[in-house]
Amino acid sequence: MNSPELTEDENRGLYQRATEHGAEWWRVSVADRPENYRLEHGVDNGSGPGAVDIDLVVDAENLRAKLKKWRREGFAIDTDDAASEQSAAGRVAFMPELQRVAARASAAKCRQLEGAGATVRIGHVEVPCGFDNPLVPRLNPAYLFSERFNDIVEDIVENRRVMLIGHTGAGKTSLIEQVAARSRHGVLRSNMNGQTTVGDFVGFWTVKGGETLWVDGVLPTAMREGLWLIVDEIDFAEPSILAALTAVLEPHGRLVLKEKGNEIVTPHPAFRLFATANAVGAMSQFRHLYQGANLMNEAFLDRWRVYLLDYLTPAEEADVLIATLAPHMTRALATTLAAIAADCRAAFAREDLSSAFSTRRLLDWAELMLRTGDPERAAGPAIYAKVSPEDAALIRGIVRHHIAPAPEA
Ligand SMILES: Nc1ncnc2c1ncn2[C@@H]1O[C@H](COP(=O)(O)OP(=O)(O)O)[C@@H](O)[C@H]1O
Ligand SMILES: [Mg+2]
Repeated sequence: MNSPELTEDENRGLYQRATEHGAEWWRVSVADRPENYRLEHGVDNGSGPGAVDIDLVVDAENLRAKLKKWRREGFAIDTDDAASEQSAAGRVAFMPELQRVAARASAAKCRQLEGAGATVRIGHVEVPCGFDNPLVPRLNPAYLFSERFNDIVEDIVENRRVMLIGHTGAGKTSLIEQVAARSRHGVLRSNMNGQTTVGDFVGFWTVKGGETLWVDGVLPTAMREGLWLIVDEIDFAEPSILAALTAVLEPHGRLVLKEKGNEIVTPHPAFRLFATANAVGAMSQFRHLYQGANLMNEAFLDRWRVYLLDYLTPAEEADVLIATLAPHMTRALATTLAAIAADCRAAFAREDLSSAFSTRRLLDWAELMLRTGDPERAAGPAIYAKVSPEDAALIRGIVRHHIAPAPEA
């Protein structure tokens, strides 16, 4: 039988399917005899293509039957030349190899940390401890470290520059503060959405008692003292501040104080630099909500690891409500309140609401509600007075949808 679709060129190649530990493959090549094909079979257990365990020669019709069977069994058909054979093998081999290498790297890091003094475990990550000082943020025992935060905490340990982006009240600042609180590192915060000048940030000369003195700004202070510096709302920073920052964005980047005769500030090993922003990168679509925010250029963003921090999930937020307002908050109440917050955020995402609904707002509302016993009255100062009348009406509707009025006494 001579089928037009079965030419040597089309059917030679590597056919493979993923297995638990790697891949199983069949290789089809042209046999010595005309109109015949050589089939080799092997298993890749994650350490390379493995030995050939079946080696046979079949005719075209037989091959056709095999191809059908392999397709049913989930083997992916690759094309025929040696290069793609190699790339197909590489494609399958990549993940097992990467996982092996990553496991080795993290084991090496653990060994390194063991020799380096006290650490505290945050999520999955061992974080080296600093020492008690007045700038260590207050620990919030109700703070919930989501699984998603592990990568961020690991970046902090590795001394990467971390930028957290997301809506107001999503938990950007508190994440860094709570890592610092647990590992006892002092934190300085500098908000760019205000009157922060390059003088406040880098430093300035002043006259005191007839003497001219240099005063370090927050950046050199944090660098010298080994503090963690959070540059809040970096998308509002003036260009001269961004220029000063750029120099220290490299892991061991030093700051040159031009105004102080080019004094060089070398970072203390414990120094860390963070930024938060509402409307850059993946959040750019919300720029209209954050009036005055600047676009950050890609070259600047590329110097950071940028994480988009979403609001907690309703289940996580219910846990936070219960933990924060223990022992009074019950699971049933918390679940309803978290669902209301989720609905308000969905309305915000649809642009039906113009104000975001932060975890802070939810906690505040819940706390006041426990005091007053009246969700509507509590919502006045916690929510309605902070938003437009239209937004207040919409939120009131969402609340009523979840909470029926109390039965008449
Ligand atoms: N994971 C969390 N666990 C507990 N509380 C949280 C969490 N995330 C946010 N919050 C609460 O929300 C508040 C606002 O978070 P914040 O870090 O100030 O937000 P952002 O910096 O994104 O505006 C925090 O003070 C905290 O009470
Ligand atoms: Mg903040």
